[in-house]
Amino acid sequence: MAEPPRILLIVTGGIAAYKSLDLVRRLRERGARVRSILTRGGSEMVTPLSLAALSGEKVYQELFSLTDESEMGHIRLARDADVVVVAPATADFLARMATGLADDLATTVLLATTAPVLVAPAMNVQMWAHPATRRNVARLRSDGIRFVDPGSGDLACGEEGPGRMAEPIDIVGAIETVLAQPKPLHNVRALVTSGPTFEPIDPVRYFGNRSSGKQGHAIAAALARRGAEVTLVTGPSAQPPPPVATLTEVETAEEMLAACRQALPTDIAVCAAAVADWKVKAVRTQKLSRCDGPPPRYEMEENPDILAQLAQAAAGRPRLVVGFAAETGDVVDRARAKRERKQCDWIVANDVSGASDVFGGDANTVHLITPEAAETWPRLSKDEVADRLAERIADALAEPADAR
Ligand code: C5P
Repeated sequence: MAEPPRILLIVTGGIAAYKSLDLVRRLRERGARVRSILTRGGSEMVTPLSLAALSGEKVYQELFSLTDESEMGHIRLARDADVVVVAPATADFLARMATGLADDLATTVLLATTAPVLVAPAMNVQMWAHPATRRNVARLRSDGIRFVDPGSGDLACGEEGPGRMAEPIDIVGAIETVLAQPKPLHNVRALVTSGPTFEPIDPVRYFGNRSSGKQGHAIAAALARRGAEVTLVTGPSAQPPPPVATLTEVETAEEMLAACRQALPTDIAVCAAAVADWKVKAVRTQKLSRCDGPPPRYEMEENPDILAQLAQAAAGRPRLVVGFAAETGDVVDRARAKRERKQCDWIVANDVSGASDVFGGDANTVHLITPEAAETWPRLSKDEVADRLAERIADALAEPADAR
């Protein structure tokens, strides 16, 4: 199931802004999802209403908007894009981008995004030729910003020459080229476990835990966004399934292990599931009821440790095995010991002591434990933890094996 490409369009205050409406229409026709940011100058040229009507999405304008921040947030706006397109980009906007300003929503999002950025300048011919603009364009190019250069012709100002914004069809072509470029985890196979496991007691009862699956699902989605072919093996979770190549729903730890084995070989494995440590030794075939006698006592036995089995697999071990550790007390030391005991490469450890709201919550404060170091990440949303982890995984796979 492929997700539609997510395009964030920034419309600044050039007369060519009217062409951006056509650009939105063409992108939507091709199945893209287009969110837009309209700068103050842009809103002098086109109305938010026309952009919203054509894109079918809310249009974002203010950095300090309480409703926008609570609904979406500028960081999410920056992150939830496969490509950011600035069309038209005025000379002033190019200068502000080149300086790294972040004094409105558009410039802030441009600093915060990790997506490729494509710029379609539009301005008077002299402004385009001015050494200051040349300098800004050169600096932006060296920062990795891509350009769809303006065309030559009659300009709105009455002059002639280069400065006219590229035609929407050409901008669409440039966007398609950017989107077609291989992603960092292209050709990488990933296994992710998520959610709790339910261990049956009798036909209607089970032992479970409070894991929501939010973190594991977010990791599966973040890896898939970077091009990985993801198999997500999940215990019972109310989370909507992310767009992954293979989704396998299981209940018990044994079923999870079997599904993981079936998914191998993979390049990476991220075990984020909260797997029950124990299961009931003799699961009753009949529902036990109050009239059957005194309260039951259950004999438990150990469940397989999926993470340890993947990490210690004699054959077909994923190149990078990442575990999670929900700890209380001395979180980092305990997680370090766990990493060594289970022989996984990395452990993402989080503090689940009383005050934290990790289980079911949206935020997480984690430590990334590698053989070399323990890093403490700031408090982040689970989506942001997933993105950071996916970036780190992509970086690690890009290094030679002995450097990890
Ligand atoms: O030992 P502990 O349960 O704290 O280890 C947590 C890590 O081990 C997580 O990555 C979890 O997914 C994994 N695990 C597992 N199978 C188990 C228990 C834990 O894969 N039976």
